[in-house]
Amino acid sequence: MEKDKRNLEILLDLHFPIIVIETHEETHAVDLLKRATLHKNRNLLLWSIAAGLHDVFGKPDYRFAAPKYSLENELSAYGDVQDPESMLEMVKANIKHHIIVLLDFHPYLATPKIVRLLKEQAQQQSSIGNTYVLISHQLAVPPELSRLSTRFDISLPNKEQLKAIVKEEADIWQMKNRDKKLEVDAKALKLLIRNMVGMTKSDARRMARNAIVDDGAITHSDVKDVMEARYRLVNQEGILSFEYDTARFSDVAGFHNLKQWLSKRENGFVTANAQAAIDIPKGILLLGVQGCGKSLAAKAVAGVWGVPLLRMDFGVLYNKYIGETEKNLREAIKTAEALEPCVLWIDEIEKGIESGGEDNGVSQRVLAGLLTWMAEKKSRVFIVATANDISALPPELIRKGRLDEIFFVDLPDAETRGVILQLHLQRRDIEAGNIDLALLAHESKGFSGAELEQVIVSSIYSVGLDKGRVNTQTLLEEIRQTRPLSRVMAEQITGLRNWAAGRTVSA
Ligand SMILES: Nc1ncnc2c1ncn2[C@@H]1O[C@H](COP(=O)(O)OP(=O)(O)OP(=O)(O)O)[C@@H](O)[C@H]1O
Ligand SMILES: [Mg+2]
Repeated sequence: MEKDKRNLEILLDLHFPIIVIETHEETHAVDLLKRATLHKNRNLLLWSIAAGLHDVFGKPDYRFAAPKYSLENELSAYGDVQDPESMLEMVKANIKHHIIVLLDFHPYLATPKIVRLLKEQAQQQSSIGNTYVLISHQLAVPPELSRLSTRFDISLPNKEQLKAIVKEEADIWQMKNRDKKLEVDAKALKLLIRNMVGMTKSDARRMARNAIVDDGAITHSDVKDVMEARYRLVNQEGILSFEYDTARFSDVAGFHNLKQWLSKRENGFVTANAQAAIDIPKGILLLGVQGCGKSLAAKAVAGVWGVPLLRMDFGVLYNKYIGETEKNLREAIKTAEALEPCVLWIDEIEKGIESGGEDNGVSQRVLAGLLTWMAEKKSRVFIVATANDISALPPELIRKGRLDEIFFVDLPDAETRGVILQLHLQRRDIEAGNIDLALLAHESKGFSGAELEQVIVSSIYSVGLDKGRVNTQTLLEEIRQTRPLSRVMAEQITGLRNWAAGRTVSA
């Protein structure tokens, strides 16, 4: 990109002794350097441990010192300039006014003598005129060199540029497949590009190519692949898990208020810009009865907004490296923020942050860390937490303002029970037209969604897996044989409802 070239030219003209470029796109970085130095009278040398030192522009007649001097002769005279130390000694003795690019030099910065050699030359930049450019995927500048070096960041492509990349790849495919027509789902294309923001050019290009090549179409499944790839790029430690399966709200019966609440906020969340940062939705808690679709609804939030779904599992947070729980939490937060906009799903949050545990206050500190982040959060990471048991929930978490809303998920009413039955029959390819859903809904009072689903599953088994024989009667029998949890746990559920009244909104 032209802007990068110009900025790099400026840095070179300012004669910074050391320029550090952290990037996975080495070729692109070298290319930028070539273009930035093309019209300067400083030559470019490239070093790597494998290839040693060589002249990038390969001008064989290049002379920069006394007439008899040739760089090639000097290089060969020094023999092994692959060794980083001898290379630095050689440059020190012979080379002036050059830009010396060191590829993957980061391991050698752990060697005191090498750091010292670099520092001495960097300090003499004004008289010798050499600039070192260090290109690595990751590079920590040792403190000895920090004052002498500056970082240069290669800019990532913006949405327009990403769109152009996808278009280029589409054109290439179309040229090779003249007899076919590339199918593009407009909404999927938009989501695809949105999810490529933050990727490097070459990653984006590779993703676009993969998306198109597998089936000659850009569809929603391609969007998932891009989301997952992006997640892999940022979540090296594996503290969050990427949930490939987000649900659709059409798979979830009931939850009318939640659906409405979310659709009102979709634009504010997904396309929020920096100015609107204060009003970005923070998150919700889904509290309620077991098996009534809390986890399912949490997944559907990501599905309906078309953003990645990341799951934070306290078990992993606590166990990954013993004693590093708080660091793990910070890592997890960093990962989520790198993937914004996204949904961070914390299932059964009460299990992770139970108050008064015997873990030397670790869970207290995790809770504190989580709360601080929630209070200060400006990123578009939408938290969806679920919980069954309010008594285990610390009051700080549910205080107003931390989360946008607490939704109470009650047992489904008759109408919702009918829809749940219908959805799950359909999913198993059972014709629901001849089944008296109203009757079944009436007879299954107190059943949770999970129990209704189980009724269907058991019914299929009881007719010997011959789905055609599942009918109102077989389903009714299963309902009669089920003792729903709500009857066993009537007291707890009443307690939950009483607590929820006035404190929560019905989902
Ligand atoms: N409202 C609903 N619409 C459709 N399916 C439902 C609904 N509620 C429950 N189910 C079915 O029951 C299953 C279990 O629901 P889910 O795991 O989401 O419940 P939960 O509230 O998270 O329960 P728990 O408190 O035990 O974690 C779902 O996978 C789904 O198949
Ligand atoms: Mg659940």
